[in-house]
Amino acid sequence: MTTQRIGFSEQIRQAVDLAKKSGLSQKKICEKAGIDQATLSRFMAVKGGLMPDKLDALADVLRLCVKPAPPPVSYKPRREIHVLSLCDLSGNWPKPWGKAGCKVTLVDIKHGKENDVVRYQLPKDPVDVLLCAPPCTDFAVTGSRYWTEKDSKGHTRESLTIVYACLRLVMMCKPKVWALENPVGRLPRYIGPHQMTFNPCDFGGYLPKYQKTDHPCIPRMDAYRKKTCLWGDFEKPAKKPVRPVKGSWINDNTADKEIRSITPMGFAIAFFEANKHRVGIFDYPLPSDGEELPF
Ligand SMILES: C[S@@+](CC[C@H](N)C(=O)[O-])C[C@H]1O[C@@H](n2cnc3c(N)ncnc32)[C@H](O)[C@@H]1O
Repeated sequence: MTTQRIGFSEQIRQAVDLAKKSGLSQKKICEKAGIDQATLSRFMAVKGGLMPDKLDALADVLRLCVKPAPPPVSYKPRREIHVLSLCDLSGNWPKPWGKAGCKVTLVDIKHGKENDVVRYQLPKDPVDVLLCAPPCTDFAVTGSRYWTEKDSKGHTRESLTIVYACLRLVMMCKPKVWALENPVGRLPRYIGPHQMTFNPCDFGGYLPKYQKTDHPCIPRMDAYRKKTCLWGDFEKPAKKPVRPVKGSWINDNTADKEIRSITPMGFAIAFFEANKHRVGIFDYPLPSDGEELPF
């Protein structure tokens, strides 16, 4: 309301200024419109209002066309946006979407047997965003010396079943945005070339300096390397790199595998930022520099 009134008062003030330049004084304008000079001054300074009949008269004098204001633009999506995140234990990747009001569904076998992506049935709600982080154990380059053994023992086939289950859901759901992530390795042999690669430290600048990480062994601002590939249909997130404080985590077994596979939060925010417009989210602001993240 206030913004509309300020806008209108400002327009009148500009019209009065123009009229003055063409020789019509403010006193004359007020006389012609039947308005007290002090009332007009208060209106232009957004300190008082004007009755509609006086506004009409003023518009006539100033030769303005008074049109009703257009309805305010609503940035709220018409229906709830649904984000489905497959093979996701931590829930980090879809967190910014959830914070922006989207419905988030996490599917991870560790959340219970019914959360097996291979048997997962098409959800009732349409899916707008589909995120997939299938296990990398049998594809990551770090395990390359075991690939033959993994193939002969059937592990590769099992892991591929999970990847294909994710892609099956992409085909069925036809989301507006989808992405599948896996560290560098041999997955391109099975599903083709990826669209981009990143290291977590590429997006560390999205995180406040003092924000605690998911685990004490994860460096703050995701300042570590773990080269990861992304496949899908998405806008590439803009990088805000920080200097890594440790070597590649891909070869490092000092932290538990579960911790090392947590989706880096800086990347999750950058991905949301780059893709939110595809589902009609335009107005969800990121916390400004140094502010704690809301999740
Ligand atoms: C590489 S981790 C990804 C973790 C994820 N980035 C996160 O932040 O939690 C792979 C995940 O896939 C899950 N997973 C393995 N087999 C699955 C299956 N059949 N259905 C659903 N999830 C599965 C594992 O429990 C694990 O959490």
